[in-house]
Order: sequence, then structure tokens, then C-alpha cells
Amino acid sequence: MTHDALISRLPKCELHVHIEGTLEPELMFALAARNHIRLPYATVAEVRQAYQFSRLQDFLDIYYQGMSVLLHEQDFYDLAWAYLQRAHADNLVHVEMFFDPQGHTSRGVSFDTVVDGLNRACVEAAATFGIKASLIMCFLRHLDEYDAEKTLDAALHHKAKIMGIGLDSSEQGHPPSKFARVFRRARDAGFHLFAHAGEEGPPDYVWQAIDILGVDRIDHGNRSMEDRSLVQRLARDRTPLTLCPLSNLKLRVIDDLARHPLREMMASGLVVTLNSDDPAYFGGYVNDNYRALDTALSLRRDEVIEVARNGFSAAIMTKTDRAEMLTRFDAVVAAISDTEDGNS
Ligand code: ADE
Ligand code: ZN
Repeated sequence: MTHDALISRLPKCELHVHIEGTLEPELMFALAARNHIRLPYATVAEVRQAYQFSRLQDFLDIYYQGMSVLLHEQDFYDLAWAYLQRAHADNLVHVEMFFDPQGHTSRGVSFDTVVDGLNRACVEAAATFGIKASLIMCFLRHLDEYDAEKTLDAALHHKAKIMGIGLDSSEQGHPPSKFARVFRRARDAGFHLFAHAGEEGPPDYVWQAIDILGVDRIDHGNRSMEDRSLVQRLARDRTPLTLCPLSNLKLRVIDDLARHPLREMMASGLVVTLNSDDPAYFGGYVNDNYRALDTALSLRRDEVIEVARNGFSAAIMTKTDRAEMLTRFDAVVAAISDTEDGNS
């Protein structure tokens, strides 16, 4: 049996979502009209038709093009607010969202415009929905370290609004070691650290992310499974992986959800979490990702619960918040066990 009601009702975290990857075609058209930008598509259907990828770079080319409609503070606010409403509908109570400032500053949009718009939506989500939302600024790894250094300088002026630093974009040929110095400076400034690694890149990139960059979590990390000693290290240190199954399927990191490594990862003692990555492009938000894997792998009820609970262990939050949220989580689990869903 599947666990649709359980998945909906569990309070959950999202730890791997690129806010620019939540730009739905409808909002893309609305912002294009508002900002007098011509899109290379005539209709929403045509946009969705273009979302066919055979690897990460195919997606990134379209993703950076989609960002062109984001110009003003209000645009960034509207983007994040649309996502946070969606997050609330999925029963997310804590979200950590990536943003790619270099994708905007390279087009002449100021760093302040981006951060202020996103932050305003995060503040409002706390007041309106009680969602704890924070921002993780990513460096684009296809650019050089000097560009990342300048971006970190800009972030230091907004320290209170940015929780952490991440690394994303084209992985192959851009190892974490390329950003060793700027990550060290970010660490010294007190930011939490994250990096995409082992999505398309080799296990060695995951080693570099933990040993050279010193990250708190690995984003994706699928290819870690090719290296037994790496898996042991990640398990020993309880370094969480933020998995994104629908993204993996769309970008051909896996060819079938039924072959997703979630179960092997859990059996190896890895702390795995489920996330959406770029939901507007990959066909699903957090609950969709849970449901897709639940169906494909015939997950047991306790496995669904464990993965959702892992989100709270892997999240960046105070000890007090974690204890409170886990108490609430366990109470919801106990209440659901008496209903018809989730008795298997
Ligand atoms: N930027 C947005 N989504 C990404 C992904 N899945 N991998 C690397 N960079 C990204
Ligand atoms: Zn990602």
C-alpha cells in the first residue's frame, strides 16, 4: 500500500530547493509581461514542452534563461512567496532555500534587490504560516573563484539574512577544491556550508566537499554509493544527504525511480532526506517526491517516517527548535497510526 495521507499529514522540512527552480511557467509569463521581456516561448504548454533533459547541463541552460524575467525586488518576493505558499500546502514547517545571486548580478540586477525580496517573503512566511525559512547563497561552480569571492563580499553586507553558503551548477570538471579558499573565508565568517556533490560528479568530489570544504551536508551525493569507504565515512559522521528523486529521474542521474538508491543508503546507515530541487522544472514538490518514491520502492510506513524525521536532524536549527519540532512530529505520527492510512 501507499502512504499518501501519511505523507501529506507529516510535518516536514525541505533542505534542497533552488528558489529560481520554483519559477512556474505561469509566473514566468506574468513577470515577463510586467517587465516587458520577450520569452522564446508563446504559451505555457510550449514552455513545459521544452523541459526535456538528458543531463544536468540541458536543464541548467533553460534554468538560467528562465531567470531573465526576475528584475525587481517585488519579482524575487513574488517568486519566493509562491513557493512558500506551496510549501505550506505540503505541510512543510522548515525550509532552507538556495539562491544563485551570480545568475542575477551578471544580468545587472543588484545583490540587494535579490536578497531583500527573498528575505521579505521568508519573514512573511514565518508570520503567516509559522514556516521557518532561511536562505543559502550558492556559488556557481562553472565561474571562477574570484567571482565567488566578490559574491561573498556582497553577502557579508547581508549576513543576518543569509544562513549558509552552497555550491551548485555544472558539476563535471568543477571540483569543490576549486573553491577551497572562498569556502574557508565563508566558514570563518560564520556561515554554514553545503555543496552539491556526486550528482553527476565522481565520489572524489564528495570527499573533497567534506574534507576540503568542510560542508555540513552533501546535496544529492548519489554517486557516493560507488565508494564503500566514503559511505562509511558519511555514515560515521552522520553527514546528511539531500536527495531529490524526481530531479534525478528528469536529469537521468537514474533511469528508473524503482532503481533509486534510497533503500541501500538507509541500510548503509546514511542520513537521507527527500527534497524537490527545482520543482517547476522536474514535475513535483516535496510531497510529490515522497509519493513517487513511496510508489516506486513500495516503502514501508516506518521508512517514510524515518526519512521525514531525518529532515529535522539534518536541518540547521537551534536545539530548542529541533526538540520542539520533533515532539510535534512524533505526536502527529502517533495520531495517524490510529487512522486507516499507514497501518502497514
Ligand atoms: N542548480 C539548480 N539545480 C541544480 C542541480 N540539480 N544541480 C546543480 N546545480 C543546480
Ligand atoms: Zn540542487
